[in-house]
Amino acid sequence: MKFFVDTADTKDIADLAATGLIDGVTTNPSLIAKSGRPFAEVIAEICSLTDGPVSAEVVATDADGMIKEGKTLAKIAENVAVKLPLTWDGLKACRTLADEGIPVNVTLCFSANQALLAAKAGAAFISPFIGRLDDIHLDGMELIQEIRQIYDNYMFETEILAASIRSPNHVKLSALAGADVMTAPPSVIRSLVNHPLTDKGLEIFLADAKKAGIKV
Ligand code: E4P
Repeated sequence: MKFFVDTADTKDIADLAATGLIDGVTTNPSLIAKSGRPFAEVIAEICSLTDGPVSAEVVATDADGMIKEGKTLAKIAENVAVKLPLTWDGLKACRTLADEGIPVNVTLCFSANQALLAAKAGAAFISPFIGRLDDIHLDGMELIQEIRQIYDNYMFETEILAASIRSPNHVKLSALAGADVMTAPPSVIRSLVNHPLTDKGLEIFLADAKKAGIKV
């Protein structure tokens, strides 16, 4: 499973990239706004911190505007993936950009039929939003399972990018459901390593080593 980090905070991205565990980055307009930095500048810096795809989202809502913005974003760096919303105009723009060799991440996916449309439109990634479905008492994980089955039935190459991941359990369940990629905030990625028995076990091993005077 590929790990993308969902943030526009370049310090966090650099810190996590140093672990070698990060395969790409996703951003959205809310995350860019939170960074307080100019859009193109922050995307360029993020692209220099990873070789993997960096999703940068358009703000136009009509197909022509999205295509224009998508081409502008794709010029920032070779590893930009243009993020488009799952609307008819987004799907039209997706087909055009994909045909020109620009990878597209179709975002704000909340149903299996939407994911089917995105795959047919040539999306490189589909982003089902797990947490936001859970927020309204629907089963985000069931959506990942449905998309996995549909894409496998028809051998679509669109990668399932589990998004709006809010907890370590979301990561585990997405992996079990066969998502190709998950994107999560830095805090969730860092928390994956935690287990109280690991901490307790290490404490005991180190105390015993100290008592026995073990040196390596
Ligand atoms: C993914 O591309 C989105 O930026 C993100 O996962 C949204 O997460 P949220 O629902 O926690 O805001």
